[in-house]
Amino acid sequence: MAKGKILNLNTEQLLASLPRPESVPGFSSFIPLYEEMVKGAPPECTIVEVGSWCGRSSIAMARAIIRSGKQIQFVCIDKWDFRDPKRVQGTIFEQHDFCLFDIWTEAISPFRPYVNVRALQCDSSAAAALFDSESVWFVYIDADHLFKSVFKDIKAWYPKVRFDGHIGGHDLADDIPGVEKAVRKFFGEKWKKWGQRSWLHTKAESVCKK
Ligand SMILES: C[S@@+](CC[C@H](N)C(=O)[O-])C[C@H]1O[C@@H](n2cnc3c(N)ncnc32)[C@H](O)[C@@H]1O
Repeated sequence: MAKGKILNLNTEQLLASLPRPESVPGFSSFIPLYEEMVKGAPPECTIVEVGSWCGRSSIAMARAIIRSGKQIQFVCIDKWDFRDPKRVQGTIFEQHDFCLFDIWTEAISPFRPYVNVRALQCDSSAAAALFDSESVWFVYIDADHLFKSVFKDIKAWYPKVRFDGHIGGHDLADDIPGVEKAVRKFFGEKWKKWGQRSWLHTKAESVCKK
């Protein structure tokens, strides 16, 4: 049962009282993919987000988990090391002294009573090493979009995905060719485009031995 029901709020009332993704800066066009993954998830499982930045996509996932009523452990991974005032502007950054981790922490904190959310502030591959093989239902990679980085992330995370799970990521786009190149190099044709800018591989459909 979702913790929200314990408080005698119905789920929609609870969600109405919690922040929406747009309350923090972000890029996520993949919220429907998050919702679909949570809908298809087993009642108890782990979902990982690699690249959480200010928390927009993390909020979207937290909301989907609350709506599902499932016991999903949600792990957000980011280096949260980028705080260059020349490259990010806006009140929210100034208020937090350009500390991205503080922005993310504040964004997600209203969800903590209702969702089992954890943060790992480290490099994606180092974080992957902390997970057991085939222990994660869904991993979404939205970190560095260079070819080498995306390939490294996929290589690190693919073995951690459950036999019936999924791995996907952002940002398939003509002006960011490294993402598709890395996905093709790892999966060949065994992946699909999801929505406008995401890719998705379903492990059960094929087992890649790379
Ligand atoms: C595009 S932003 C994520 C946006 C977020 N998913 C959203 O939709 O709001 C990319 C994030 O990935 C993080 N990142 C980049 N390379 C990383 C790595 N190797 N390990 C962990 N985090 C990384 C950056 O710190 C940055 O916060």
